[in-house]
Amino acid sequence: MTEKKAILKVDGREDIALSVYSPSLGQDVVDVGPLTGSQLFTFDPGFTSTASCESKITYIDGEVGKLLHRGYSIEELASQSDYLEVCFLLLHGELPSAEEKELFVSTIKNHTMVHEQLQFFYRGFRRDAHPMAVMCGVVGALSAFYHDSTDIKNPKHREITAMRLIAKMPTIAAMCYKYAVGQPFMYPRNDLSYSENFLHMMFGTPCEESKISPTLAKAMDRIFILHADHEQNASTSTVRLAGSSGANPFACIAAGISALWGPAHGGANEAVLNMLDEIGDVSNIEKYIAKAKDKQDPFKLMGFGHRVYKNYDPRASVMRESCHEVLKELGVNDPKLELALKLEEIALSDPYFKEKKLFPNVDFYSGIILSAIGIPTSMFTVIFALSRTVGWIAHWNEMISNPYKIGRPRQLYTGATERSFIPADKR
Ligand code: CMC
Repeated sequence: MTEKKAILKVDGREDIALSVYSPSLGQDVVDVGPLTGSQLFTFDPGFTSTASCESKITYIDGEVGKLLHRGYSIEELASQSDYLEVCFLLLHGELPSAEEKELFVSTIKNHTMVHEQLQFFYRGFRRDAHPMAVMCGVVGALSAFYHDSTDIKNPKHREITAMRLIAKMPTIAAMCYKYAVGQPFMYPRNDLSYSENFLHMMFGTPCEESKISPTLAKAMDRIFILHADHEQNASTSTVRLAGSSGANPFACIAAGISALWGPAHGGANEAVLNMLDEIGDVSNIEKYIAKAKDKQDPFKLMGFGHRVYKNYDPRASVMRESCHEVLKELGVNDPKLELALKLEEIALSDPYFKEKKLFPNVDFYSGIILSAIGIPTSMFTVIFALSRTVGWIAHWNEMISNPYKIGRPRQLYTGATERSFIPADKR
């Protein structure tokens, strides 16, 4: 990083010299750290112009719609790699050699089962509980089972925890589904690939051998890759913030799952399908576009817009292509895809969406693929959480492996000034 200077001038104060860092890619960053000693804070609600950390994992150029993991484009990774290879890349910084990959995959497979007692946690939930509610609880509970790997200062513990989380998330996610539909939990099968095994645990039963379509397993794997990481988004920042207090990684990931659940973040894929159901027919699109533009109406076009992308989300382009492939392969004629394509076409030519640079994001198409695979809407965000676990753990590990401070933002206080307490009988 090369260093430049910025001078901050504030009325009645001495000029403050601030360092300006030039990253390997992207915009310069002003280091406002020295303001602490000057009794000044920066004010940036929603962190729209704040870099919360230094990171080497993922780079996004929102203006041109570029996403790189450790320097490799998401398009190349989605077409030429597989999810576990991307996990290795995110965690270790480089693509694995053939031997490294074999060892990584076999280690993950050795950790796919969950503690047998964990299944009793599920029974404490109502069958109609939202699977994300179950995920928050069950993943948080992992720290009660695997406390032999929660010494965050021990790199070996951190590595085992990463492996355990990546390996067990599909098992935990599929158990959420099986519990909801009242079917027996399926044990993982280590002769299958990561995505095949997930589909086996989702749709297999003890009564017959699961038949896993290679096309669906490939589509699933691509969905996992496309959601694997996305730099300092709300859930990843939550994981970092929770981790900065020294909390154990399972608790941090549970915090990330909670942050992901909201419809502005990971919950959007579920919201897109609900929205397409609500719109119902191509003839209603104009009405819903008008609602999305109306400031008095809380309705938003779900799957549109992004804090960082002011261009087409590159993940959405890959997902759009994948969506067509899957539906063609399955011979499914999904009217929702037709509706989605028309909605996209109309929104992209509308001056409101053009001016505000609102383009389809990753979630716009993922729901259509997941529905075609037979995954219920309520499981969509769970699949996002499963895929994003590697990103969360890579960022958590990056933070813990380097010098860091507890995350503790300050505020612009606009409440009451100091006043005397008034006893209840005098108020
Ligand atoms: N429909 C209609 N108007 C929108 C939409 C939308 N989907 N998204 C943003 N706008 C408008 C917004 O009203 C605002 O208008 P104005 O400037 O007149 O006040 C302007 O565009 C800027 O939006 P913002 O809400 O200030 O932008 P943000 O960066 O705070 O929010 C967002 C980004 C993703 C939360 C938002 O675009 C949104 O809620 N989209 C729908 C939900 C969604 O698809 N989320 C998935 C994000 S991608 C997956 C992930 O990474 O989690």
